[in-house]
Amino acid sequence: MVKIAPSILSADFSKLGEEIRSLDRCGADLIHIDVMDGSFVPNISFGVPIVQSIRKCTRLPFDVHLMIREPSRYVESFAKAGADIITVHFEADSHLDRTLNYIRSLGVKTAVALNPATLVDNLKYLVPYLDMVLIMSVNPGFGGQKYIDYCSRKIREVRDLKDRYNKNLMIEVDGGISKYNIGNVVKNGADVIVAGSAVFKNGRIKDNIEMLREGI
Ligand code: DX5
Ligand code: ZN
Repeated sequence: MVKIAPSILSADFSKLGEEIRSLDRCGADLIHIDVMDGSFVPNISFGVPIVQSIRKCTRLPFDVHLMIREPSRYVESFAKAGADIITVHFEADSHLDRTLNYIRSLGVKTAVALNPATLVDNLKYLVPYLDMVLIMSVNPGFGGQKYIDYCSRKIREVRDLKDRYNKNLMIEVDGGISKYNIGNVVKNGADVIVAGSAVFKNGRIKDNIEMLREGI
């Protein structure tokens, strides 16, 4: 079954705890947490203390998407703060193999994210050691952007790697997903759908999640 991972980047931060509790009640499968450093991406969001303090609001798994340079410096802190999956960007780490082993040694699931223009072939040797691959379908940094169409082909390419090298691999797609295109994204092979603006639109979390599921 396809999982929905709402991105709290689109939440109202003045009542973040409440927003997370509603996501839980309204049927979210994971909480997607976008951490941005203002260097790898042109925006700053939040860091470890926020993750730690929202941990008490839900038992849903925390899917922590690190859009930061040299992520290995921070993975231990995010693991301690309650991350269940840690995603690092291919483009942000020169020692990815080492970082992934490190994340696993902390008892946390591993994922690598690819920016839209990064080739899927880069993952070939890593796929057997990964729990998830994150295909970015917008240029990371901001919510509410438009889905980049050529990313659908990349999803199919990752599905091919999955079929060949790691049947348990989860494929997550992040950026510009709405009730209109979610069906296609899933048809191409996505197992986990990140959605920010589509979930929080008009403050109607429950209806929005239902509409996404109908779209599938
Ligand atoms: C983009 C983030 C996404 C984003 C998704 O840098 O990684 O998680 O917030 O938001 P929407 O669904 O609005 O594109
Ligand atoms: Zn994200």
